[in-house]
This record gives sequence, C-alpha cells and structure tokens, in this order.
Amino acid sequence: MYLDNNNDEFRNDILKGLSKTDQKSTPSKYLYDALGSQLFEYITEQPEYYPTRTEIRILKNNSHDIIKNISKEIVLIELGSGSSKKTRYLFDEILKRQEKLFYFPIDISINFLDTIVTDLESLNRNLIIRGIPEDYINGIKQCNNLLFENNISFDTFSRLIVFFGSSIGNFEPEDARDFLKQIRINMHDKDFLLIGFDLVKEVHLIEQAYNDKAGYTSKFNLNLLNRINKELDGNFVLKNFDHYAFYNTEENRIEMHLRSKLNQRINITGNKESIPILEGETIHTENSYKYDKAKIEKLASRSGFMVEKIFSDENNWFNLVLLRPC
Ligand code: AVI
Repeated sequence: MYLDNNNDEFRNDILKGLSKTDQKSTPSKYLYDALGSQLFEYITEQPEYYPTRTEIRILKNNSHDIIKNISKEIVLIELGSGSSKKTRYLFDEILKRQEKLFYFPIDISINFLDTIVTDLESLNRNLIIRGIPEDYINGIKQCNNLLFENNISFDTFSRLIVFFGSSIGNFEPEDARDFLKQIRINMHDKDFLLIGFDLVKEVHLIEQAYNDKAGYTSKFNLNLLNRINKELDGNFVLKNFDHYAFYNTEENRIEMHLRSKLNQRINITGNKESIPILEGETIHTENSYKYDKAKIEKLASRSGFMVEKIFSDENNWFNLVLLRPC
C-alpha cells in the first residue's frame, strides 16, 4: 500500500482537487494512511468483497500451472507485497523445483516489510528475502542491481514479477498502460509478469462489494477527511458526508465519492479562503476499473506484453493473467 509522508505534496494535491469547479476529486493514494491500510485489510475480509477471496482461490488452484509456464529457475519480485499472504501459495510450488528462492517484496511501507521478512524467513529456510522499501519501478531497478551484484545471471533465471489485488484497476487506463510500459522496460525477454484483474460482472455484485453492510468501505472512504483534519488542520465534519459508491457502466468502473449532506465551507491550512461544498455535491475519491478479456489483451499489447495464459475462477469474476514481454 502507498503511504505518503510528504505534507506539502499532500496539501497541494488536496487543495487542487477540492478547488476544481466541475468535479471535486482527490488522488486515491491518500486513502492509505496507517488507519486506511488497516481498514482496507478489514474490507478484504467482508463477505461482499469478493476480489481477495476469489484471487486467493485462483492462486490455490493454479499455482502449479502458473509456475509450469516458466522453464528457468525463478526469482520472485512482488509489487505492493503488503503481508505477502497470497504469494505464499507460489513459494511452495517454486521450491518443489529449485533449492533456493530469492524473493524481493517491494512495498513503500517499511513496517509491513520488516514483519514479513522475519515471519517468512523463519517459515522456510530456503527463502532468501530482501525487502525493498521503494516505489514499484525504483524497487524493480534495485532488484536488478542486487541480482547483478550477486552474480545472478539472467541467462539462468527468469524473474516472475507479481502484482496481486487488482490494484491495476485503481489506475486510469492510460496510467495503467504507462505503468506496465515502465515495468516492461526493466524486464528481460525471458521474465514474466503475473497480474490480478477484477472483471466486469453483474452490477449488483460489484456495487455490494463497495458498500459492505458492516460499513468498512464507508469508514475507509471517510477516513480521508479524518486524515485531512489531522495532517492539514482541516475542519471536515465527518457526519456531514455520506459514502457513495456506484458502478459507472459507461466507464466500467466503480466510482467512490464522499457526498455532502448540506451546504458547507471547508478550511485547510495554507488556504486563504474556505472552499464551498454544496448539498449533494461529491468529492470523487477513487476509481476501480473492471476489465474483460479484450481490454486485458489491449492493455498488454499496448505496453509491450502478450498474454501467455489466463487463470480464472469458476464464475469468471477475477483473472490472474500471466504476461510475457514481446
Ligand atoms: C486496492 N484496490 C484494489 C481496492 C479496489 O477494490 O479497488 C480498493 C478499495 N476501495 C474500496 N474498496 C476497496
């Protein structure tokens, strides 16, 4: 998950987003402070939130077949590793074929990395773990340097880069393409990329996942206002806003908003004038794009990849897609 401690950048982005005259919006990365990340973990355990459960099921049922596609020894790199819960399904399968496995979890949150490195190393002596507290692209570059320094030749190894959780859906489509292009530039021809995509499906199933009965998604969304109050000396009154999440069928995405219950004015440190928000007006806080096969293939080909294999669940709600550079 993304933690941003740079207050100036946070303030500028929030002020810019709230000052928009058409649709107020804020970058979704700011949803993930420590509490936001914790709330997101709770969301993934809710009965309505199918993506995490479904992705884990696909991994459980297919880890052997996923690994089978890669003939060389594997070095595993994970983007946004979090607790590395899902990746564990791959470790055993890889370690059936090779004696040792180098695993590089990349996560901007140092706390997560420290815990998992200690946990996992005690779990399996054949795992050699180097946690990389970096953004994804710099993290991959750092892995490449570490492999080079340790004389691990790309002739004998394939790197398998994994990006679970359907976080690719939180990128705007053109940003997703640019992001994958950047990954591609830092890959060798015999490397692989495994990505989780949440798929287009019946609207009510998707909408329920973002409106869980226990209210964790609502708390997660409203926590942004808490964060602004705490870190930017804002005066948001949380009870004056509603969590509002709906599926936009034209754009194939869940939109998450905070909707104002009344006419109000917002103050944030460093802003001379308060910002008006009208009753019913919304702040757009996140998009979560849902994909289909054609869109996945288009994204792959536009960023320098081809689809090697697609792994799915029995309902075809979620795909794990193995991509290879082309
Ligand atoms: C992190 N990401 C994949 C989640 C999603 O489903 O788009 C974030 C989320 N937002 C609300 N619920 C979950």
